[in-house]
Amino acid sequence: MRVTINEIKEMKRREEKIPMLTAYDYSTAKLVDEAGVPLILVGDSLGMVILGYETTIPVTMDEMIHHTKAVVRGTKRALIIGDMPFMTYHTSISDALYNAARFIQEGGAQAVKLEGGEVVAETVRRIVNCGIPVMGHIGLTPQSIYQLGGFKVQGKTPEAAGRLIRDACALDEAGAFSIVLEAVPAPLSKLITQKVSVPTIGIGAGPDCDGQVQVINDILGLFTEFVPKHAKQYAKLAEIIRTALTDYATEVKAGSFPTMKQSYTMDESLLKELVNSA
Ligand code: KIV
Repeated sequence: MRVTINEIKEMKRREEKIPMLTAYDYSTAKLVDEAGVPLILVGDSLGMVILGYETTIPVTMDEMIHHTKAVVRGTKRALIIGDMPFMTYHTSISDALYNAARFIQEGGAQAVKLEGGEVVAETVRRIVNCGIPVMGHIGLTPQSIYQLGGFKVQGKTPEAAGRLIRDACALDEAGAFSIVLEAVPAPLSKLITQKVSVPTIGIGAGPDCDGQVQVINDILGLFTEFVPKHAKQYAKLAEIIRTALTDYATEVKAGSFPTMKQSYTMDESLLKELVNSA
C-alpha cells in the first residue's frame, strides 16, 4: 500500500519531518523508494536535468507522462506526484482537469503539483473536488521565470511577503494537501508553515518547513552545470561516473576488456565440428 495524503498531513501534526525527492526513471525511483522517502515528485525539472532544456518551459504533457509511468513502475510505497507542465492548467478549468486526470489515469500517479497561489486556487479546488490530490507550489515558480526575471529569492519586500502568505492560505483553503515553498527567506517560510494547516515542503526555504524537497541530480552531484545554493551534495556521482567511463574506454581500446570472465563459452565438440567444416 502506498503512502496516502492523510499520512503526509498526519506527519505535520506529529511534527515529523517529511523528506521528498524528485525522480524521473525506473531505476532511480526504485532506489528512492527503497530508501523510504515517502513522497516522489516527477518534477518538470526533468526538462533541465534529464532532457537538457534551459528552462522547464518546453516540457510537454507527453514527456511528463512517459517519465511518470517509469517512476510508478519502479516504486511500491512512495506517493507519486506528477508535475503539471507550463500552461497545462491555465487555459481553462477543463484543460486543467483533463491534464490532471492524465497524470492519474495514464501516468499512474497519485497526485499532481501545480505552480501559483491565489491565481490558481479555483483550479486547485476543482481538481481536488474531482478526487485528485493537489500539491501547491509558491515562491520561486520556475514556469514564470521570464515574469520573475530569473531564479531569485522571493518574498523579500513587505508586499511580496504578504502576497506569499495570502497565496499559501488560498491554496490551503482550496484543499491542497501540501505546499512547496521554493526560494523563500527562512523566517517567512516559518511564518507560513505556522499559518497553514497542511505541510509545507521547502526547497531553499530554510529548516522550519514541515518537509524538504530536492532535485535528485543536485544532491547526488550528477548535474554539474551549476549547484544551487540550497542544494547539498551527498555524493559526487558525476566524478565517479566520469572515472568509470574513461576506464571502460581505455580498457576496450587496450583490449583488456572483456576478458574470458565476461565472455560466454560453448561446447568444445561443437566448436571442433565448426572449425573442421569451415
Ligand atoms: O520540478 C521540480 O523538480 C520542482 C521541485 C524543485 C519542487 O518543482
